[in-house]
Amino acid sequence: VRVAPDQVERVGVVGAGVIGGAWAAHFLRMGLDVSLYEPSSVAREGALELLDAAWPTLERLGLREGASRERLRFPETLEETVADAQVVQEATPERLESKQEVFRLLDAAAPADVLLLSSTSGLRMTDIQARCAHPERTVVGHPFNPPYLLPLVEIVGGERTDPAAVDWAVAFYAAYGKEPVKLDVEIPSFIASRLQEALAREMLHMVAEGEATVEQIDAAVVNGPGLRWAILGPGLSFHLAGGQGGMAHCLDWWGPLLDEPWSRLAAPELTPELRQRLIDGCEREAAGRSVDELAAERDACLVALLEARDRCRDAR
Ligand SMILES: NC(=O)c1ccc[n+]([C@@H]2O[C@H](COP(=O)([O-])OP(=O)(O)OC[C@H]3O[C@@H](n4cnc5c(N)ncnc54)[C@H](O)[C@@H]3O)[C@@H](O)[C@H]2O)c1
Repeated sequence: VRVAPDQVERVGVVGAGVIGGAWAAHFLRMGLDVSLYEPSSVAREGALELLDAAWPTLERLGLREGASRERLRFPETLEETVADAQVVQEATPERLESKQEVFRLLDAAAPADVLLLSSTSGLRMTDIQARCAHPERTVVGHPFNPPYLLPLVEIVGGERTDPAAVDWAVAFYAAYGKEPVKLDVEIPSFIASRLQEALAREMLHMVAEGEATVEQIDAAVVNGPGLRWAILGPGLSFHLAGGQGGMAHCLDWWGPLLDEPWSRLAAPELTPELRQRLIDGCEREAAGRSVDELAAERDACLVALLEARDRCRDAR
């Protein structure tokens, strides 16, 4: 019987590179036992160094009851690592062939009710789970670097994943300090990286054409939309740009301009359905808050962010 997602005590982490080491730090902070499997002694050392560097920050953010660095161990085999783990977070190199093999081994070693979560940045779980006898418990849990600080985890199953396992993963991450986003569709690279990629490709075009330098692009993002995106995503940003009329009004003037050469990315047709989906999404997210209330929240958070940024810059 699968443990309740908020009652986990023992986690297995597989791979102790940049991401696995950081997952271990996060789960230790959450007061869990962590078994970290890593064949390379250099990488094991690296994970300990990462933990040394991150721990004061994690202490400052607040440790869960019982949290201790002493609860980390490095088992010698994968089998030993997953033997008593109640959930496994995989963080091995991003190659489909080797992920499939790691998942085949994990699947063979871990009891069938233990979830196997992959940190993959963009591979499909449908492909990763191909060689598993129990693919129903395999789920993507894609973190953002560094996972001990950034709350986002994108969650999606493959074709043979049990939807109940996906829901368990959502509840597990939420119970242990994360802000999970469950995807409805298994799209390559998930949500956040696709958005980053769109922006990055426009950067490549602008630099290639001599339209903007890297410095100009970075300054434009960091001092403008980047700050705001920490508070309002691109959806609610447009909702507020529409004034009292919100997203609906915004689309009235923005819609007809979608053919303008403001980005190399082609715009989809703004059908009535798409329009309504955008408006409904903003209304759901606003959850009854007026545009004025949202703007006041935005401003208060922006002031706090700007002050925090100034403090960090002054400390340099
Ligand atoms: N680096 C990022 O910013 C980032 C962000 C989100 C997700 N990811 C994903 O996380 C995963 C890990 O990425 P990373 O950046 O930590 O890579 P990394 O190369 O830093 O670490 C991978 C580690 O896995 C170890 N390893 C290799 N084969 C193994 C095996 N069979 N069993 C156990 N360990 C094994 C390697 O020795 C290495 O230490 C990838 O799927 C990557 O796409 C990376």
